[in-house]
Amino acid sequence: MQNNRLAIRIWDLPTRLFHWTFAFCVIGAFVSVKLGGLYMDWHVRFGCAALGLVIFRLAWGFIGPRYARFSQFVRGPSAVAAYLRGAAAPAGHNPLGALSVLALLLVVGLQAASGLFATDDIMTQGPLYGYVSESVAGALTSWHKLNEWIIIALVALHLLAIAWYALVRRKRIVGPMITGNADPRDLPAGTPPADDGPAVWLRALLLGACVWALVAWIRSLEVVAGMSFS
Ligand code: HEM
Ligand code: HEM
Repeated sequence: MQNNRLAIRIWDLPTRLFHWTFAFCVIGAFVSVKLGGLYMDWHVRFGCAALGLVIFRLAWGFIGPRYARFSQFVRGPSAVAAYLRGAAAPAGHNPLGALSVLALLLVVGLQAASGLFATDDIMTQGPLYGYVSESVAGALTSWHKLNEWIIIALVALHLLAIAWYALVRRKRIVGPMITGNADPRDLPAGTPPADDGPAVWLRALLLGACVWALVAWIRSLEVVAGMSFS
């Protein structure tokens, strides 16, 4: 049966806002840390925002609308193998793309979490730095610096995959992440739309407020340790 509706909502507004804010914060964290100096304050802000966004997305994966749910897109190795052998892609993330989504959330989450304990030994430290021994803080700071390359590799892979879908497979996937809507020709016939409206936005707002409070509380735990000037 031909799917002939005009456009089908796949990505709800909170998921799209999450995606673009997340990308902005990760890039912001990289740019500010490379600028260094006073921009380190911005590094901590971007990093903490990224932490909150990861927590938000993990929860949204359980309480968000259809295509945002992990149960909808996280599949086992056999589904990934079948997709690689040419099985049709479902609406939303495909089984292979789902792995990249999980990997991005995991590595950026670990980056932000380790940043909470990191120090540059000059004037910037994470809010939880004072709660661990110097050797633990040193190990987490080393991990924080090393993980930079894993994030760069995964983001590069993410962008290459998107370019490949756009240029080789001629599949429109960036548009839906902006507008929320996919062309029915890019979806299996009979694909149901995702919920997206005031009730969904209210749920996301409540979750966002809880996550914001959690991150603000973590930041408030900062004890002024030896070298801090803040
Ligand atoms: C640092 C930069 C970026 C990061 C960390 C990132 C991360 C992510 C994550 C976590 C998802 C899963 C979304 C969800 O289900 O909530 C995703 C999906 C997606 N991203 Fe990005 N992203 C970045 C940059 C970009 C850019 C620049 C583009 C566009 C050119 C883009 C296009 C997309 C698209 C189209 C999807 C949906 C893929 C699909 O249909 O399965 N991303 N990204
Ligand atoms: C998306 C999240 C984050 C990313 C991508 C990120 C990235 C980085 C990178 C690449 C470095 C190494 C810079 C270099 O040596 O050139 C760094 C250092 C640092 N980050 Fe983060 N970071 C994030 C989150 C955080 C958070 C949440 C905090 C604290 C609250 C933090 C605190 C620090 C500190 C104190 C350093 C200095 C380490 C040093 O120079 O010895 N980061 N970060």
